[in-house]
Amino acid sequence: MSVLVTGGAGYIGSHTAVELLNAGKDIVIIDDFSNSKPEVLENIKKITGKDFKFYEMDYADREKLEKVFEENNIDSVMNFAGFKAVGESTKKPIEYYINNVSGALVLFDTMRKYNVKKFVFSSSATVYGPENPIPYKEDMPVGTASSPYGSTKIFIEQILKDIYKADNEWSVALLRYFNPIGSHESGLLGEEPQGIPNNLMPYIVRVACGQLKELSVFGGDYDTPDGTCIRDYLHVVDLAKGHIKALDKLNEGNGVYIYNLGTGVGYSVLDVVNTFMKATGKDVPYRITERRAGDLPAFYADATKAEKELGWKAEKSLEDMCRDSWHYIEVSRKNG
Ligand code: UD1
Repeated sequence: MSVLVTGGAGYIGSHTAVELLNAGKDIVIIDDFSNSKPEVLENIKKITGKDFKFYEMDYADREKLEKVFEENNIDSVMNFAGFKAVGESTKKPIEYYINNVSGALVLFDTMRKYNVKKFVFSSSATVYGPENPIPYKEDMPVGTASSPYGSTKIFIEQILKDIYKADNEWSVALLRYFNPIGSHESGLLGEEPQGIPNNLMPYIVRVACGQLKELSVFGGDYDTPDGTCIRDYLHVVDLAKGHIKALDKLNEGNGVYIYNLGTGVGYSVLDVVNTFMKATGKDVPYRITERRAGDLPAFYADATKAEKELGWKAEKSLEDMCRDSWHYIEVSRKNG
């Protein structure tokens, strides 16, 4: 029995592939390298000492996808092939809806055809929207999306709930990620956005290695202790481990299970910058600038449900996250 991991060469997909292999699962990876590199697959093998089958293809290519299901004994699926850049999604909504929503529908339809009904969905804290008070809890109503990217998360959550309503043999986990940062401790896997990064940690590391001059801290006048936005940053390896626990849950019984994957602790942008400098000894020049449109002042998880029901709790500190994000850059530079 294998777990199909779409987008398994990407940032979160590759870290989860490692944890699946470490947990003794067989996996099959699909990736089209649109936002990742083939070397990642070798690095997954190097870290785990294990092999897996790989298909270079778009996960939404129905014909090829059917072949993958025919050639392998797949019993569950994790989908990391979604587009995830918030800003880009506002400029390319059609591409986002096609890849994320239509792609997911092709995947669900194919799963149904091959009688595979266990699915772990990479959702996002963005589904809570600006309406809900913090900390966010899983039983709060879904809010308004602030971007087409966010809408794709809300839509797919709803689609999966409808699929389960129609067929109780499905078992689905909706994992609402908070802000994953950090890298595998080996330095062999990490986040490498193309072009100028939009997210905080990828931007910080580029400033720290001198590729970018300074960090713009978006807004210093929020109603928070130091005036900068607060987020729930969690280590990507902790996040990856949450997927293994969620999969175990799906194997216990059918249903739709919703979990926040966050630490439950909020840190400000300046907390992250200062912790990064302390953990790495690198300087990160920054300047407080205008607020970024669409940013919420503060959000973090109530992380108690995942702990109670899955036995999952984020273990790594903000210092670990900063150190490991930097370590990835050092190792990548050394390896050319
Ligand atoms: C966003 C998305 C989230 C998505 C995540 C990763 C929303 C509401 N959130 O999170 O769903 O999973 O991206 O793709 O759509 N910042 C700076 N300077 C920078 C970059 C960021 O000050 O150069 C600040 C931001 O204002 C924010 C914090 O750092 O306060 C984190 O930003 P970012 O890493 O982009 O993540 P989110 O916007 O929280």
